[in-house]
Amino acid sequence: MNILFASSEIFPYAKSGGLADVAQSLPAELKRNAKVYTIMPLYASIERQRYNICSCDFSFNILLNKINHQIDLYKREDNDFEFFLYNPVLCDRDGLYHDEHGKFGDNHLRFGIFSYAIIETMLRLKLKIDVIHLNDWQSALVALLAKTKYALSQKIVFTIHNLAYQGIFHKSAINELDLSWEECFKSDRFEYFDQVNFLKAGIFYSDVITTVSPTYALEIQTPSYGNTLEKMLIANNHKLHGIINGISYEVFNPSTDENIYTHFDKQSYELKLKNKIKLSKELNLPQPHRPLFIFVGRFTPQKGVDMILQSLHLLKDFEINVAILGNGDSYYDNVFANLANMYPNIHITAGYNEGFARKLYAAADFLLMPSTFEPCGLNQMIIMRYGGIPLVAKTGGLKDSVIDYTDTEHHSKEIGIGVTFEEYNLFWYMHAITKAISLYANQKKYLKFAKHNMSVDNSWRHSAKEYMRVYR
Ligand code: GLC
Repeated sequence: MNILFASSEIFPYAKSGGLADVAQSLPAELKRNAKVYTIMPLYASIERQRYNICSCDFSFNILLNKINHQIDLYKREDNDFEFFLYNPVLCDRDGLYHDEHGKFGDNHLRFGIFSYAIIETMLRLKLKIDVIHLNDWQSALVALLAKTKYALSQKIVFTIHNLAYQGIFHKSAINELDLSWEECFKSDRFEYFDQVNFLKAGIFYSDVITTVSPTYALEIQTPSYGNTLEKMLIANNHKLHGIINGISYEVFNPSTDENIYTHFDKQSYELKLKNKIKLSKELNLPQPHRPLFIFVGRFTPQKGVDMILQSLHLLKDFEINVAILGNGDSYYDNVFANLANMYPNIHITAGYNEGFARKLYAAADFLLMPSTFEPCGLNQMIIMRYGGIPLVAKTGGLKDSVIDYTDTEHHSKEIGIGVTFEEYNLFWYMHAITKAISLYANQKKYLKFAKHNMSVDNSWRHSAKEYMRVYR
């Protein structure tokens, strides 16, 4: 089985969210059973030297609307399976999809070029491919091109990581990208309220759609989570599968992670405490033996930062410590910046730093994840691997990977144990936090669940098998 895996971001080269982590760790696991090529843009921000990315001395042109777009092919010197596409329109700017002034105005053209280039690379290099696996709207146009213009025989798998981002543009994109109005400007295909929608094209033209958890696959067929595409998804649900993401068990490993203060595993769990004490000192948090709650993530409404913000003014009086790491929407960046030195037991770090994030996971007793919706979520899996307890809203992939500690009837080896809340409001969120505090007070119980979480298998092992089944 030969797979071409296309993504607009792959860790460590470029990352704006969980997609990049998945686009790194899923292909790595699939490679055990298949030949997998990955392909992504060679953005200006990618450090070519650091990763030994070199030119293949192979270029070609894509003619769109009488304009020639030159594509140069790159790969890693030590690896024939990771391709990078360079084109100035696609790659030469600050940011992947936007900068401080907002979204780039030509993203339809940029990712249209990317989509053409994916197919042209496959054809021109004569790669023998059985399945092209696309991710999110940025590569979704490949499905349309494969089934129309190019009439390819390869099967197309399209994964939706987040329905909130659809790639909606002015309909003039059809001319700019040399597409056929008759073929694709239809309400069940590419058309969307007299505009065009890249995600819709992916849904309609792919052979299989997957999304990143079974619960999210159901949720997106309802008006609350369907982001106006619920009817479209219902019409295509015969080819829709929910497969939960995994995380890399090599990258996330508290017994080898070089970012953390003291290594530990299930057997030496007591060493985790050293991480908390060291970090608390470093962050100037009082009484390091208190339970430590962390939040790591993008400051966007999806991640529940409004709930976090409302709760901080209450948590200042609790005998707990809170450490927050993140950045995102400028409104939230400002609000968090103003709170940064307000309360002694609440520490806020602006920005994103992978090494510091790992220190937080290693130190934390609880991870806060009050997402308003969550296609899968990876942080709840990371905290489990680092011997902590996730506190999550019962939605999407969080619901599929975490069961409440009081729900003993449903405890099993397969699922993580945490604190969950269902009704989305401050009352039930605070209720969950007080439940977490009382769980921590019962150390015997807490340790049992924390160690349980360390032995739950959230690696890609199971889910990669499901993808192989889908490919077949
Ligand atoms: C998006 C989703 C997140 C998911 C990730 C990887 O970032 O918001 O829930 O885990 O994609 O699929």
